[in-house]
Amino acid sequence: MTQPNAAQMAKAWDQAVTGYDEWIFTLSDGVARQSLSIMGVGPGQKVLDVACGPGIFSILAAQTGADVLATDFSQGMVEHVLKTARHLGIDGVQAEVMDGQDLQLEDSSFDIAYSSFGIMLFPDMAAGMREFCRVLKPGGMGAITAFTGPEGLEINRLIIGALKAANPEFQPAGPSPLFSLADPDVFRSEMLAAGFSRANLFTVRSVIPFSSPEEFWPKMAEALPAWRLMINSLTDRQRQIFGEAFVTQVRSEQGDGPFATEAEVHIGIGVK
Ligand SMILES: C[S@@+](CC[C@H](N)C(=O)[O-])C[C@H]1O[C@@H](n2cnc3c(N)ncnc32)[C@H](O)[C@@H]1O
Repeated sequence: MTQPNAAQMAKAWDQAVTGYDEWIFTLSDGVARQSLSIMGVGPGQKVLDVACGPGIFSILAAQTGADVLATDFSQGMVEHVLKTARHLGIDGVQAEVMDGQDLQLEDSSFDIAYSSFGIMLFPDMAAGMREFCRVLKPGGMGAITAFTGPEGLEINRLIIGALKAANPEFQPAGPSPLFSLADPDVFRSEMLAAGFSRANLFTVRSVIPFSSPEEFWPKMAEALPAWRLMINSLTDRQRQIFGEAFVTQVRSEQGDGPFATEAEVHIGIGVK
């Protein structure tokens, strides 16, 4: 049986809005701030955020005075961005439901485009990259972020370790879309093939903080569709072993109290 691609279930992302914003916020926020400063986003620029999720970059970009369009195929994410902008009194953000592989937007209409942990998940990543570049003005700049590989994503290592304790026969179904742009050469050549005239990679580290492993693991299904699918595939007994193994591993590495995991991220910057 083929494993369902959790990252491509828009409705599953609708259910992850609050959990994602709660647990993954710091990672996305750190990478968004670094990308903003590399690209020099500022007042009057037209900015597109593709697969915007809860809109962490979109809000930060609008706060610089840019005119932002946030897009995501999840209606829940799009509504969340608009709600956050209203709540913060920011009026430079619009948001629309849109598939990043088929943007309903005119050619050459944005100064800046951004897609963080988004395009890497698309089944047709090349189409996502082409669309991303197509809508940029000539000379416009785009930033795409993606994980550098399983070794660079500590939370992934902890989860896989606990999964193996719960189900010793566990084998990943295939290559994870999380790492589809891990290879710097592939990342750069995908950007150039999509139409960028130049592409550079910056590799940065970000920290994902958690209050405690005991509090995190029972709620992790709320943060990402892939984690929900994984937790739901376990029997009650396996879930219990998973939780115990996760807590034991974190505690043995980091002691009592809050814990944090590191994530290594490529930021691919392209100029059209
Ligand atoms: C890991 S989250 C990243 C969210 C945000 N960019 C960030 O950095 O926090 C992935 C997002 O991609 C969206 N997504 C996945 N596939 C998509 C597609 N084909 N078109 C548009 N959005 C998509 C999901 O709904 C989700 O909001």
